This record gives sequence, structure tokens and C-alpha cells, in this order.
Amino acid sequence: MRAESVDHGIAFSRPCFGEEEAGAAAEVVRSGWIVGGPRLAEFEERFADACAAPFAVGVSSWTTGAFLVLRAWGIGPGDEVIVPSLTFIATVNVICHVGARPVFAEVDPATYNIDPHDVERKITSRTRVLMPVDQLGLPCDIDAFGALAARHGLRVLDDAACAFASRDRGRPVGSLAEVTVFSLHARKVVTTGEGGMIVTKDAAFAERLRRLRHQGMSLSDYARHGKRPTVFESYPEVGYNYRITDLQAAIGLKQLDRLEPMLARRREIARRYTAALSNHPLFIPPYVPEGLEPNWQSYQIVLRDGGPIERNAVMDRLHDLHIPTRRGVMASHLEPPYQDVNAVLPQTETLAARTLQLPIHPGLTEVQLEYILSAFAGMA
Ligand SMILES: Cc1ncc(COP(=O)(O)O)c(C=O)c1O
Repeated sequence: MRAESVDHGIAFSRPCFGEEEAGAAAEVVRSGWIVGGPRLAEFEERFADACAAPFAVGVSSWTTGAFLVLRAWGIGPGDEVIVPSLTFIATVNVICHVGARPVFAEVDPATYNIDPHDVERKITSRTRVLMPVDQLGLPCDIDAFGALAARHGLRVLDDAACAFASRDRGRPVGSLAEVTVFSLHARKVVTTGEGGMIVTKDAAFAERLRRLRHQGMSLSDYARHGKRPTVFESYPEVGYNYRITDLQAAIGLKQLDRLEPMLARRREIARRYTAALSNHPLFIPPYVPEGLEPNWQSYQIVLRDGGPIERNAVMDRLHDLHIPTRRGVMASHLEPPYQDVNAVLPQTETLAARTLQLPIHPGLTEVQLEYILSAFAGMA
């Protein structure tokens, strides 16, 4: 049966903003503290609390945050960082930004998350960092990476760009790894448009990251403001401009206020997709291992083996029905900057070719969701 094509104005993804975010941004504009002011400190504190971690450092993106962590750890030329290829290419690019070499490991085809056994096989005398990814918001096996790192004297940076508010056996992502970096980009569960957050248990490391994001400055403008006698800052090391603004922080605070209902709606949409696709002849819904609670930042499905239709044709068909989709997570080692890396990653290549993502965001209405479900029923 072919579904009838109706344009319900379905968005693939859409930030969940309301008058609260608009009002909070307006208040910051009126206050004059646009950057480095009180909203940032408040946002960092609440974000850390949500992660059950002591410190959070706001930055301009995941990419700049991960760069600062690698830089602060002294990672550079001659060093290797083990990473999945099946990830948004930012994970890999940042390794190159510090002059180190990405080494690709294979993923588990059921969870799309990097396989600790393959990571262990790829460790050499040059390996310095393991950078697993909580792909699409599903927590990776972070305990396995912690154990590997301890055994081999390595560091772990958890790429949780997509995994804010996801949980592993009740423990929030951010409370588990040595350092976790989140993205606050517009497609994320909690967004400030652009932005990132580094979460750590180490107070001195958090302080250093705060300096590095602001040109190496020892004391922020806010800390110096109104002080008598006048205090002066110093610049003990080379830093960067990777700041996040108070405008963004004010929006982020309102996003945290609505976190629970946003997550609940995402869970409900995911539940309905999974119920509809569980016995579908063409597609396999995502697998969630026991004890893991993804935030459903994305909903990715994979085509069954030997099916009659290719992934791109499915996307075209859904597009004709006014249902926007995206291809599944990419294989970074197939892109020109990384093609010379001698990677053998059959699972990664298969998944990158056979997966697609469906619309999921709190603003997806019942009418839109039912329409999408009927389109899948029509493809059975
Ligand atoms: C797994 C992963 N890592 C890193 C990033 C980069 O995040 P940002 O755009 O905040 O730098 C993304 C963005 O979507 C991502 O999905």
C-alpha cells in the first residue's frame, strides 16, 4: 500500500524554544553582561549538577572544548588517539587540530558504539588518548574504556556531544569518565544554538580550562568587576577565544528547566517508532542494551539485509511524502582528509551505507507522528 503524500510541515529536528528562552535572552541584552557574566556561572553549576559531576566549563562548541582538553593534556604530533570512524567528523578533526593522529576502531553493529576489544587491539606505544563516542545519545561502555586506560596508562575523553541526560545504569553521562565533552548545537537535546560544555571531577583542571578558553587570563572580567583595591589579571599561558556568551547561558538555563518534558516526549516518539518498526520487513529499529537510557537525541534505523530497496531510495521515497530524514552516522575514514589512513572497517562502512535517521524532537505533533508511522506501514 502506498501512503498518500500530505505536507504536514514536518521538521527533521527543531529546537524546543518558547517565550521563556526569548525572555531570558532579552534580560541578558538589557543587563549589559553579554559575556562572562552571572548567567554563565549559573549555567555551568546547573549543568554540572545534572551530570552529577562537580565542575562544568562552558565553551563555544564541542569542538573547541575537546580541543582545549587535548591541548591541556599536551597531546600533539607523534601521539595517537583511538576513535571510531563511525562518528560525525568533528570527533576526528579535533585530533588533527592538535597535530595528533587518529587511529580508527570498529563499532558494535548493534549499538553503533565503539568496540573496546578492537580499541585494545589498536593500542600502540604512541597511543595517548581513547576517545569513545556515546553515539546518537546511547552511552558507550565507558567502564571498559576506563579499565583499558588504567591498564595502559592512557587518558579517556568521552565524546558525549549527543548524550546529555543519557544514563548508564542510573548514572548520568558526565559522571562516568575522566573528562566528558557535550555539544549544545541546535540539534542537541539541550541547545544554546552553538556551544559546548566540558565536565570534569578535577577542580584544578576546570580552572585551567576556564583560563584557556579566555586567552589564558588568570581572573575573569566578572571576578575583577567592582573590586577594590583594583585587581589585575595575568596571562600565564597561551590561550584561545573559545568563550560561550551569557546570552547562550541564559537560554541554556531555560532549556534545563524544561529538560524532563523534552526527554519524555522524545522517549514517547522513540517508543512509538520502535513499536511500529519492530517486525517491519525492511527496517530494524535501534537496540538499547539493558540498563542504558538514551536521551533519544536521534532515532536511527538500519535496512535489513537483502531487502529490495536501497537506503537512498528510502530517503527519496520519504522525501516525496514530505518526511525529512538524514543519512545515518557517517564513516569518517571514507572522507578525503582521512582516506589515506589504512583502515579496515567493514561494519562501519556497512552501517554508514544502510542507516537513516527519522524526525525526532519535542515539537513533533501527534498528527505528524501518526503520518510518519502510516508511511512506514505503507512500505511494509
Ligand atoms: C559525535 C559528535 N561529536 C562532536 C560533534 C561536534 O559538536 P559541535 O558542533 O558542538 O562542535 C558532534 C556534532 O553533532 C557530534 O555528533
